[in-house]
Amino acid sequence: MKMQVNTQGHTTLSLLLSREAVAARVKELAIQISRDYTGKDLLLVGVLKGAFVFLADLMRALEIPVQVEFVRLASYGKGATSAGHVRVILDLEASIVGRHVLIVEDILDTGLTLGFLLERLRARQPASLKLCVLLSKRIRRAYDITPDYKGFDVPDGFVVGYGIDYADRYRSLPAIYTLSFPSSDA
Ligand code: IMP
Ligand code: MG
Repeated sequence: MKMQVNTQGHTTLSLLLSREAVAARVKELAIQISRDYTGKDLLLVGVLKGAFVFLADLMRALEIPVQVEFVRLASYGKGATSAGHVRVILDLEASIVGRHVLIVEDILDTGLTLGFLLERLRARQPASLKLCVLLSKRIRRAYDITPDYKGFDVPDGFVVGYGIDYADRYRSLPAIYTLSFPSSDA
């Protein structure tokens, strides 16, 4: 399915993952996580802004009690590729010492962002630290980061929807789309 949107030239969105496919996979991940953390106090750490829709659906599908915190990170620079530097815009409010922490992120791309976050949180001595990503672009990996829970492997290409943005747009789309840039602008 192709959908033309009237913004930034003739950008084209092609459906990659339907809302039903995403919902079904989120449910499966929630069952797995609920099993793995039974009897433990789980703290979900969402990475703003991209992960908030995924996190909201995931936490409501969990069958165990959880707590939630957020961090906000930015990779230096703007646009469709992340540059080589990460900075913290919003840090955790709560201590994670001795807690079971599961980072929830939208996309694992080169691994720069999550590598940075994992290292930063590991230094704060959680009881355990794991990673849950909705999408993984394995072909793009430059850092040795492997998710403990993964929704989907996706091919290289820029994706939007279900919380994921391009220049802060398209987050509200209920499904996940691949965005094609007009060749004249590329
Ligand atoms: P990494 O640091 O290269 O792994 O990039 C991870 C971050 O880049 C993600 O948290 C996203 O915010 C952003 N990102 C990577 N690929 C995409 C994409 O296809 N669409 C939107 N954001 C993306
Ligand atoms: Mg992000």
